[in-house]
Amino acid sequence: MIQTALDIEAIRKDFPILKREVNGKPLVYLDNAATSQTPQQVIDVIVDYYQNYNANIHRGVHSLSQEATDKYELARQKIQRHFNAAKSKEIIFTSGTTHAINLVANGFTSLLEKGDEVLVSAMEHHSNIVPWQMLCERSGAVLKVIPMNNEGELRIDLYREMLTSKTKLVFCNHVSNALGTINPVKEMIAAAHNIGAAVLIDGAQAAPHIKTDLQELDVDFYTASAHKMCGPTGVGILYGKEEWLNTLPPYQGGGEMIEEVTFEKSTYAGLPHKFEAGTPNICGGIAFGAAIDYLNSVGLDLIEKYEHELLEYATEQLLSIEGLKIYGTAKQKTSVISFNIQGIHPYDIGAILDKLGIAVRTGHHCAQPVMDFFSIPGTVRASFSFYNTKDEVDSLVAGVNKARQMLV
Ligand code: ALA
Repeated sequence: MIQTALDIEAIRKDFPILKREVNGKPLVYLDNAATSQTPQQVIDVIVDYYQNYNANIHRGVHSLSQEATDKYELARQKIQRHFNAAKSKEIIFTSGTTHAINLVANGFTSLLEKGDEVLVSAMEHHSNIVPWQMLCERSGAVLKVIPMNNEGELRIDLYREMLTSKTKLVFCNHVSNALGTINPVKEMIAAAHNIGAAVLIDGAQAAPHIKTDLQELDVDFYTASAHKMCGPTGVGILYGKEEWLNTLPPYQGGGEMIEEVTFEKSTYAGLPHKFEAGTPNICGGIAFGAAIDYLNSVGLDLIEKYEHELLEYATEQLLSIEGLKIYGTAKQKTSVISFNIQGIHPYDIGAILDKLGIAVRTGHHCAQPVMDFFSIPGTVRASFSFYNTKDEVDSLVAGVNKARQMLV
């Protein structure tokens, strides 16, 4: 039988944390863009690893090591299939998206020349700005910013004009963490490829909400973090096309990434090991695979549809509050709502919501240039997941109304 709607009540039972109280009130967790919650199915996999087959991988002939290695490599394959990468060796385990971006930025140091241009979008997280600034400092390349409009949509017309023979790299998030905008990355990648530039798409905020086909996107590099996808913290992936990963030098030296070591010279292992020096987050990688299984068992298509309904409902309800302004009103959005109430600091709203058991993020969301664009110090950000409900949206709206009454 094809499932046509999510059974939210059953889904919520998978997440033990959703039963707890915070400050004497039932937890309403609306900070999913910062980190998602973890279902029992994934927690069980983590416990099983430490209880039954905790061992280092790719190193031992003993059975436990073999078992851990097999499960870790199986997780890599699950991730490959989920994102439709052509080969599992194109999936590099990292500690998260930040690590993945730094790996690529570091690798391009010797590939860029003074005067080359690197484009980043105006709505990037700091993790997709600072590594490129550091790269430009090292290489003499110039960082240029793809502008956005007041709705929080990229100016693709201007982006196309910015692409020249000097452009070597383009970096953009698939979904903005601060605004929720879904960027037209397929179109952006095709335009960059037309002039021979490589593209890295930061998928940290898209992967939990949108089904992504890497081969169809034809993207050169893509990143994701497990902890935003119902998995654990401290693990993520870098996808890179095989030819790019073969071109880039290793990021870190150490065990596991070598073929042969002498004091005179070392040679490097093939993909993916060349980029995986040291003992990795073995349990995290295996649990990432379990989180992918979980998301697919719920169904990303259904998740996307349901979260869109929540977004529309929450947007409408929040806009009924006097003085409330939403930042990020793009036509294509995931379930992120950044807002302020005139005359109130976002932090004060967040603190009152916390007293009511409602978890939101306040501040600049590691995207200060976005805040500068709107001339604000920060926002209150409610970010919804498929286990949230309309009742929780109502609690948020009641909480924001209460905060407004207390603070205006
Ligand atoms: N990047 C995460 C966020 O947007 C931490 O909250």
